Amino acid sequence: MNNNPIGIFDSGLGGLSVWKEVLTMLPNESTIYYGDSKNAPYGSKSKEEIIELSTAITDFLISKGCKIIIVACNTATAAAIKTLREKYNIPFIGMEPAVKPAAEKTITKNIGVIATEATLKGNHFKQTTEKYCQNVNVFTRAANGLVEIVEKNLIDEPETKTLLNKYITPLLEKNIDQLVLGCTHYPFLQTKIEEIIGNNVNIINPALAVVAQAKRVLENNQLNTNLEKATHKLYTSGKIENMICVVNQISTNLNIEIKPIL
Ligand code: DGL
Repeated sequence: MNNNPIGIFDSGLGGLSVWKEVLTMLPNESTIYYGDSKNAPYGSKSKEEIIELSTAITDFLISKGCKIIIVACNTATAAAIKTLREKYNIPFIGMEPAVKPAAEKTITKNIGVIATEATLKGNHFKQTTEKYCQNVNVFTRAANGLVEIVEKNLIDEPETKTLLNKYITPLLEKNIDQLVLGCTHYPFLQTKIEEIIGNNVNIINPALAVVAQAKRVLENNQLNTNLEKATHKLYTSGKIENMICVVNQISTNLNIEIKPIL
């Protein structure tokens, strides 16, 4: 039994798509979220920079008593989770590229993955693809610019659809029937993506599987058994109004505090 909070972090607001699943799947757990919007996007940064930023955030979350940390960022997982696991004595749950479920589900034997440049270049993606996609064609697109769209709340601008079309249409031409969202910002674009792909392509968002893994780890004596209401503290290094806007889309009925990191 451990009533301390779950720590969750991302380069910005994208990890809130994972936080949302934590609220649903682990309703008794308190959370502390850190969105590093000031430094987003991480996808164009060097591995060393991402490790440095992720370490500073982890220090912050541990100073707040977090018992486990979900690295709700594919890019930070690829660059930094190994270092974090070596350095700190608490469990870290990272994002998975989700090519395994895509490979299991595909009928056309063609799957698409959109992610940041850093995720697609990372060893983790390479190894997972080699392991699970031997009999499947994997088509990838580094979807530059989408993280910024979510960060700045530009989802309904016409340029968003244009950019999504640019990345997704070439994948559709490869006859994909599974599209993996390899960045935690992209679920916020899901409605727009669905408008482009129609009904024949299945979207895979790894957040559920990642939170299920966090739950399994916590079930080993670390679940919160306190019957008092869970509390949620969300910190942003960016504009607080942007975080409020995304959080309000997820939940308005919770014990939530949103604070700036100064
Ligand atoms: N949400 C992050 C991810 O899952 C975005 C990375 C970035 O900031 O470029 O990769």
